[in-house]
Amino acid sequence: MTFDHDLKASVRTIVDYPKPGIMFRDITTLLADARAFRRAVDELVNPWAGNKIDKVAGMEARGFIIGGAVAHQLSAGFVPIRKKGKLPHTTVRIAYSLEYGIDEMEMHVDAIQPGERVILVDDLIATGGTAEGAVKLLRQIGANVVAACFIVDLPDLGGAAKLRAMDVPVRTLMTFE
Ligand code: PRP
Ligand code: ADE
Repeated sequence: MTFDHDLKASVRTIVDYPKPGIMFRDITTLLADARAFRRAVDELVNPWAGNKIDKVAGMEARGFIIGGAVAHQLSAGFVPIRKKGKLPHTTVRIAYSLEYGIDEMEMHVDAIQPGERVILVDDLIATGGTAEGAVKLLRQIGANVVAACFIVDLPDLGGAAKLRAMDVPVRTLMTFE
């Protein structure tokens, strides 16, 4: 669902980046627009006002920007899910694929206590490979993944549907077909 036309207009599209055939939805233009950035973060956190959220988990790298702001607004902790080899303590790791590649991601094993209520946050969901991997890591260490939120959804690539099939409620603010 398109949430807000102006917010959508603040996202820039770059054709054939990082590979031919990819329409890259670039949120740096939204981030640089103070009103758009605030509005996006406000809309992502709205459903959780008054609802206890222990931790926000965000995926490297764009998920750190959005997730950090969301965690601050919810007075929740922030947990970084990083590309392999970046975290210093003991980690859990998983391989995943995304719209234009494959990689491995990691999270510290002690980042979340069993049963803690966690929201997963990223800028965009495409195939859902990244988010699916993150949900598996979070569940592996006992997190209660209460929702996943993204500014941008690319519904043709099926990511949001994939997460819902894993019993994760999904909130997105705009779609690009
Ligand atoms: C982008 C985006 C999501 C992921 C979505 O990250 O920020 O994390 O792709 O794709 P998927 O739904 O097909 O998995 P990218 O891996 O490009 O990393 P970056 O944030 O470091 O640029
Ligand atoms: N991550 C995966 N697919 C993407 C796209 N089309 N634009 C921006 N980030 C992405």
